[in-house]
Amino acid sequence: MTTIRPAEPADMAPVADLWHEGWHDGHAGHVPDGLTAARTLAAFHERTPARVDDTTVAVADDGTLLGFAMVAGDEVEQVFVSRAARGTGVAATLLADAVARIAAAGHRSAWLAVVAGNARARRFYEKHGWSDEGDLPYEVTAGGERFVSPCRRYATDV
Ligand SMILES: CC(C)(COP(=O)(O)OP(=O)(O)OC[C@H]1O[C@@H](n2cnc3c(N)ncnc32)[C@H](O)[C@@H]1OP(=O)(O)O)[C@@H](O)C(=O)NCCC(=O)NCCS
Repeated sequence: MTTIRPAEPADMAPVADLWHEGWHDGHAGHVPDGLTAARTLAAFHERTPARVDDTTVAVADDGTLLGFAMVAGDEVEQVFVSRAARGTGVAATLLADAVARIAAAGHRSAWLAVVAGNARARRFYEKHGWSDEGDLPYEVTAGGERFVSPCRRYATDV
């Protein structure tokens, strides 16, 4: 069974490991090379603990982290599942939970940015009813440098 629950501080190191792995799976080759180089494991461990209150985790019965989602306002900021958990439905459960959190906070729609070349993620959002609303050049600061990540904006009613 998979448990979906709010993250606790002790979850955030495994979240950083999973985020680093999944980020490179979904983004390398689709964003500026300098941004990929700046997204080191150490950088994920630096930025992740502060996000504990925004994070929901999916955990297996044996305690293994299967995935996580982060919500900020009406934005689904991150949905990441481990390689072993892809194609299992865990990501769909995390996305539904993120949308429910956004609705519970009083918003009527939700949005997210997905890198244009991340075909698997785009298919995933589209099959769950999200609409592609077009190009969204997303500004990111990493390793002290500013990059523009070529994203698409997706949205859904909640
Ligand atoms: C994006 C992610 C959360 C989706 O979860 P998932 O469990 O892999 O999603 P699903 O398997 O349910 O759906 C993926 C769909 O893309 C399809 N797909 C797989 N590879 C693909 C590719 N290269 N191109 C297009 N579609 C692809 C799958 O067949 C599936 O569609 P189907 O159900 O119609 O067959 C997960 O893959 C992940 O964590 N990826 C790495 C991190 C990431 O990119 N996160 C999103 C950041 S915005």
